[in-house]
Amino acid sequence: MISIRAASERDADDLPDVERSSGAIFREWPGLEWIAEDTVQSADQHRALIAQGVALVAEDEEAGAVGFLNGELTSDGLHIWQIAVHRDWQGQGIGRRLIAAGRQIAEERGAKALLLTTFRDVPWNEPYYQRLGFHTLAEGAITPRLLKVLENEGKAGIPVELRCAMVMPL
Ligand SMILES: CC(C)(COP(=O)(O)OP(=O)(O)OC[C@H]1O[C@@H](n2cnc3c(N)ncnc32)[C@H](O)[C@@H]1OP(=O)(O)O)[C@@H](O)C(=O)NCCC(=O)NCCS
Repeated sequence: MISIRAASERDADDLPDVERSSGAIFREWPGLEWIAEDTVQSADQHRALIAQGVALVAEDEEAGAVGFLNGELTSDGLHIWQIAVHRDWQGQGIGRRLIAAGRQIAEERGAKALLLTTFRDVPWNEPYYQRLGFHTLAEGAITPRLLKVLENEGKAGIPVELRCAMVMPL
């Protein structure tokens, strides 16, 4: 049975492996296979978000941490930096539950939206988030902060034309 709970300092060392495993799904998407080998958030980055941001873990009673979501409250809402579910546990609604829990925290803290950047068209990215209630921002509607996020992704080697910014108003 899976429960969603706040991440704690003790989880930080386990979460990079969850994200590494999650990326294996990109081997199914021609052109983005390399994401499966891409760098993941470090344990220290997790520690920082656990201490200062919003950090949730999906935990199985036996397997331990099998998914996570983390983000930060920003001027335009709760920005989700990463959501990942271990490859063996995908497709069971855990991602959907993590987003719902993130949404609840965002609402409790008075945030006006959930925001993220993701890959266009990939079935478990843009169309998935659209099914969950996000919409893709048209170029002119992307806030300067989100534009900066996309720009930084480009500098990190992610082709910007494949990326989009999405929002779920709360
Ligand atoms: C995105 C992610 C967190 C979703 O987690 P999850 O627990 O599998 O999510 P759910 O079970 O709630 O839903 C999975 C969705 O992906 C879709 N999906 C999964 N695998 C798919 C595939 N091979 N082909 C087509 N669609 C697929 C499912 O149809 C489902 O959508 P639906 O419920 O609307 O039908 C997970 O796929 C993941 O870790 N991916 C790798 C990391 C990543 O892409 N993170 C997001 C960065 S923005």
